[in-house]
Amino acid sequence: MLEKKIKRFIYSPSVPISRAISDLYKKDITICLVCMPRGKLLGVLTLSDIKQALLNGVDKKASISSIMNTAFTAAPRGTPLSELKKLAEEKTSFGPGIIAKVPVLDKLQRPVALFSIEQKENPLSTVLVTGGAGYIGSHLSCRLLKEGYRVIVLDKLAFGAGGVRKLLRHKRFSLVNGDVGDIRTLMKVVPQADYVIHLAGIVGDPASALDPLQTMEENHFATKLLIDACQYYHISRFVFASSCSVYGVSASLLNENSRLNPISLYAKSKLYAERELLRNANDHFHPVILRFGTVYGLSLRMRFDLVVNIMTAHAFTKKKITVDGGEQWRPLLHVDDAARACIAMIRAPLEKVKGEIFNVGATKDNFTIASIAKLIAGKFKGVKIEWLNNVKDRRDYRVNFNKIQKHVGFKTAHTVSGGVKEIADAMSRGKFKDCMDKKYNNYLTLRNVLETGV
Ligand SMILES: NC(=O)c1ccc[n+]([C@@H]2O[C@H](COP(=O)([O-])OP(=O)(O)OC[C@H]3O[C@@H](n4cnc5c(N)ncnc54)[C@H](O)[C@@H]3O)[C@@H](O)[C@H]2O)c1
Repeated sequence: MLEKKIKRFIYSPSVPISRAISDLYKKDITICLVCMPRGKLLGVLTLSDIKQALLNGVDKKASISSIMNTAFTAAPRGTPLSELKKLAEEKTSFGPGIIAKVPVLDKLQRPVALFSIEQKENPLSTVLVTGGAGYIGSHLSCRLLKEGYRVIVLDKLAFGAGGVRKLLRHKRFSLVNGDVGDIRTLMKVVPQADYVIHLAGIVGDPASALDPLQTMEENHFATKLLIDACQYYHISRFVFASSCSVYGVSASLLNENSRLNPISLYAKSKLYAERELLRNANDHFHPVILRFGTVYGLSLRMRFDLVVNIMTAHAFTKKKITVDGGEQWRPLLHVDDAARACIAMIRAPLEKVKGEIFNVGATKDNFTIASIAKLIAGKFKGVKIEWLNNVKDRRDYRVNFNKIQKHVGFKTAHTVSGGVKEIADAMSRGKFKDCMDKKYNNYLTLRNVLETGV
């Protein structure tokens, strides 16, 4: 491909490294052509060169001329495309993963075009997914791979590696078994990424209440550390999985500006992490906060401690669904829609998403717990609903999802009925021997670890 609009690739030699890297991310390009004021090409610098320089501890305030490559390949104007292709294929100095580009120069050595070999994958394509072996993360990783991204999962495998086992064979996938709270791990993994999607943490009210200190460590303080590492390596886009449970209890239809009322440590820890991210947003670091509804549906790491999934499992195996109270509202979100929303955030124009908070779901998918039970019971023969009046989970929120649709055109693609069907079909195929096994339940798994130390 011969790119003739090359103004956006041209940088003055005195531009600081920190500004250049942010700018490349903003423009979605991977190379700077460093030129004299009158336009003579002095050197070239790729995104991976800059990252390598940062890894070597270069001062970010230094000018790009101090790290540019002066031994580059260029071609004179009028060079045939076949010749340019040959030159581009011969090049090796641009580092792994970066496609070779050949500047085309006029007689005064000024760039007039940039040739690059067409490639299927976007070169800005490595996504670090923390918590990528979890319920949402394993499905998201799978989707990212299908859509051509390279994926690095950083996960401490609290629920095993089952969620990513199938992905390990994929050539664009890698798993780092480690903790987001470990700075050494972060310093190695973060520079390999172009985008970060942060899902890791202790998830759910009951699991988060087991060891409050650990919850604060993993949900709040580890996020702070990850922000530091991302800022050091100039990761521009950072997507954070927050939760609509920050709304807690409210009678009105809630939007992103509504009063927050987190009533559990889990919800509070998500809110603290949100605030930390927004506080750190600047010209180079652009966090996006996604507040997911309660997720349901089939995933490579299955959870049967989520309302739709557990009710479906009970309807299928016990022919009985138990409902506590039932009047509490919950917005529901399919796991694939949660993954699609994360990807939409790394693809959307930066101006539309940077520093924004989006509720993720569809306003029509606000259900009361009672109506979820009735919907699911109606999908199976002979299922009874047992009504109890011993409400332990006081969360009750109805959420408006207009903003994400309006800003980035995101619409959910799944229905609760479809999610129930896919889980029931998987159960019919014998996919889950025992849905009540602790491995499908965050609280039971983590309690077992605390009790046994294993
Ligand atoms: N599932 C939902 O209904 C829902 C709703 C709203 C928000 N969220 C958010 O989405 C994200 C993912 O949720 P999920 O349902 O996939 O949970 P999950 O428990 O299935 O996955 C979390 C993953 O994070 C890993 N992890 C935990 N602490 C870690 C650490 N310190 N370092 C590295 N890895 C660590 C775990 O091993 C696990 O694989 C969470 O941030 C959660 O708060 C989920």
